Amino acid sequence: MKTLLKQLTETFGPSGYEENVRTLVYAEVKPLADEIKVDALGNLIVRKRPSKVTKDTKKIMVAAHMDEIGLMASYIDEHGFVRFSSIGGVFGRYTPGGRVRFLNGVAGVIGHDRLEKMNETPALDKMYIDVGATSRKDCPVKVGDVAAFDRPFTEMGNRFAAKSMDDRVGVLVAIETLRALRSTPHDVYFVFTTQEEVGLRGATTSAFGVDPDLGIAVDVTAAADTPNAPKMEMKLGAGPCIKFQDSGMIADPRVVQWMIRTAEKNKLPYQREVLLFGSTDARAMQLTRAGVPAGCLSIPTRYVHSPSEIVDFADVQNSVKLLTAMLRAKVDLGE
Ligand code: CO
Ligand code: ZN
Repeated sequence: MKTLLKQLTETFGPSGYEENVRTLVYAEVKPLADEIKVDALGNLIVRKRPSKVTKDTKKIMVAAHMDEIGLMASYIDEHGFVRFSSIGGVFGRYTPGGRVRFLNGVAGVIGHDRLEKMNETPALDKMYIDVGATSRKDCPVKVGDVAAFDRPFTEMGNRFAAKSMDDRVGVLVAIETLRALRSTPHDVYFVFTTQEEVGLRGATTSAFGVDPDLGIAVDVTAAADTPNAPKMEMKLGAGPCIKFQDSGMIADPRVVQWMIRTAEKNKLPYQREVLLFGSTDARAMQLTRAGVPAGCLSIPTRYVHSPSEIVDFADVQNSVKLLTAMLRAKVDLGE
């Protein structure tokens, strides 16, 4: 599981350019799936059929996004410095001095213009990527080329730091759940979505196509257990987070209770999550067609959208256990 998480986080796949991640996920799920397809937006849709169809069989969509935030070259100046636009929520405070890697293999370092005040955080339009070029002519990058943060996966005891834990850790949880599930009374669609970071675009089209009875997103949430963090409950090592709300959705209370009951019945730790910002693919599933009851299982993560996002391995393992338990039994919505 650790090796796969390392592979997933060290693969480059900014929104719209998820191909390398998809290839890796495809190889893992191929032997476990009853049906696999890739749709027009690049979503990888993996179906696990019910062992037996009964009146309790539900069509459940589990979504984890393959894409990560990134940068796109927007202008090359006469000295070969590359200005860029952002793909998703790239924060200026996490970027200067960082390394990036273009999909064509070119490495770059992020620098910035002269600052008015030494301690200010430069805006993204005051930054550039230095790729070692000396002119526009010898610059190995063209306008439209795409890059992502470049950082190795690092173990720190039972915690791991990597770029793109958001949401490769969710992708890992979905793959490992499919592996652990073996059989299910439900018709489960594991959808490895695209373009989440630019507005849940892959989940929007794939949720319409799958047309599920229930939707569960697996994504990261911000752990607030660091010095002077915003006042929120989520912390590393205290179990998967069951989302009640973020800035894009109110999780369906019936789904929330199903998740909580399953955790309690299986003696798994869990945390109650109210995230004060952000959203996930669960929002897109909830709002598809005439509406779908949806919720989100979140992995608490420090420094989300930085090049070094940290998760706790126990939370990852317990997330797999919770999702597997949810999909293995009759869905109890308390109705
Ligand atoms: Co994100
Ligand atoms: Zn995410």
